[in-house]
Amino acid sequence: MEKELLIPRETIQRRVKELANRISSDYEGREPVLIGILNGVIFFFADLVREISIPTRLDFIRARSYGSEMTSSGTIRFTKDVEISIQGKPVILVEDIVDTGATLAHILERLVRKGAESIRICALIDKLERRKVAVSIDYCGFQVEEGFIVGYGLDYDEKYRHLPDICVLK
Ligand code: IMP
Ligand code: MG
Repeated sequence: MEKELLIPRETIQRRVKELANRISSDYEGREPVLIGILNGVIFFFADLVREISIPTRLDFIRARSYGSEMTSSGTIRFTKDVEISIQGKPVILVEDIVDTGATLAHILERLVRKGAESIRICALIDKLERRKVAVSIDYCGFQVEEGFIVGYGLDYDEKYRHLPDICVLK
């Protein structure tokens, strides 16, 4: 498959810094728990948290979907849960890409049940084309209309994650 450059690394780094600055000022005087959704979030998460100037606590969650079409009604399983207590804490959920919105909706539900004080969403890419579940993204890196996006952590069948730029498969 051919890949085409969509967002170069310099643009990604600039945007990540802007998001980190907003988070630092919005949560000034507090200590939010940042929860990264594995695996695609790895590079974005690593870059973002190191640009945030306030203290944070970090954890990860991993959800796997089953079947070809994931729906908000069920086919998702958590293969790694949050390990630190988020009861009464401000949480920022960090995701690589929001597509249908189903994964995020499930994870949100779970974190609400764990008693988080507040939950905001930070996503590198908001892909609008196939949205099924409305999710409000508080900190959004880039909006993309359509296409299959790879690189900077995002994969196609576990390939292309290592690319430093964000590309679109053709
Ligand atoms: P959802 O459809 O919003 O539940 O997205 C589920 C997951 O599919 C995302 O967290 C990504 O891991 C993956 N995904 C969706 N669209 C893309 C894409 O364009 N490239 C790479 N992964 C994607
Ligand atoms: Mg993901």
